[in-house]
Amino acid sequence: MSQAARRAVGVDIGGTGIKAGVVDLAAGDLVSDRIKVATPSGAEPDDVLQAVAHVLRDLGVEEEKLPLGVAFPAIVKSGRTLSAANVSPKWVDFAAEEFFERGLGRDIHFANDADVAGIAEVRYGAAKGARGLTILTTLGTGIGSALIYDGTLIPNSELGHLSRTGHTKDAEAYAAYSAKERDDLSWEKWAKRLQWYYSHLEFLFSPDLFVVGGGVSKHADEFLPLLDLNTPILPAVHRNNAGIIGA
Ligand code: BGC
Repeated sequence: MSQAARRAVGVDIGGTGIKAGVVDLAAGDLVSDRIKVATPSGAEPDDVLQAVAHVLRDLGVEEEKLPLGVAFPAIVKSGRTLSAANVSPKWVDFAAEEFFERGLGRDIHFANDADVAGIAEVRYGAAKGARGLTILTTLGTGIGSALIYDGTLIPNSELGHLSRTGHTKDAEAYAAYSAKERDDLSWEKWAKRLQWYYSHLEFLFSPDLFVVGGGVSKHADEFLPLLDLNTPILPAVHRNNAGIIGA
């Protein structure tokens, strides 16, 4: 990104929706409308690329050539996607950054969606100035995680895929927001699943702070008070925009 850039475009590709906006980099705020389209069914690379091109056109900032960050729900190493939990298996071991750069005809920065949400909350949100270990989790179609120690991100932690002893389904299949919807759970019933999840994270990592992002974080009052943890747990300040801002 150029040193002079004051604004950038963030695109957050999720299992359900693709969201984009223009971000003021000093304030860490959206300074445009938030454009959203549904993630194409099957989430195949070509279809996702077309959808991203579409949101960028709708945003109407193409001529300005603002720096562009794209966040994706998979392990991302050196521009390659290495996993595909809620998207097409074609993304496994795929040169995704290069694919988007060719398709969009420009440079981009490409990273894991939860990692960038963590960066947004550390720079501009609930974890600003936090010392020690912050674990940000996003509760959406899956569970994403960002591990941040004294402000430094340890990327690709993938804590949504922790296994549950004696069960075949992993943590995200059991406790993501999509599991609440799929199993039609009340806040109380869902909170029991979250209690297991956050207690397990607490036992494994002894974090200093949890931050909870994803669309459902706007209803944090309904479920965070039901959790009994030793670690402070806060909703993401940027809610579901943390991915766009961090990207
Ligand atoms: C993926 C992660 C992603 C998370 C949230 C998980 O299924 O494996 O890479 O961060 O979903 O989208």
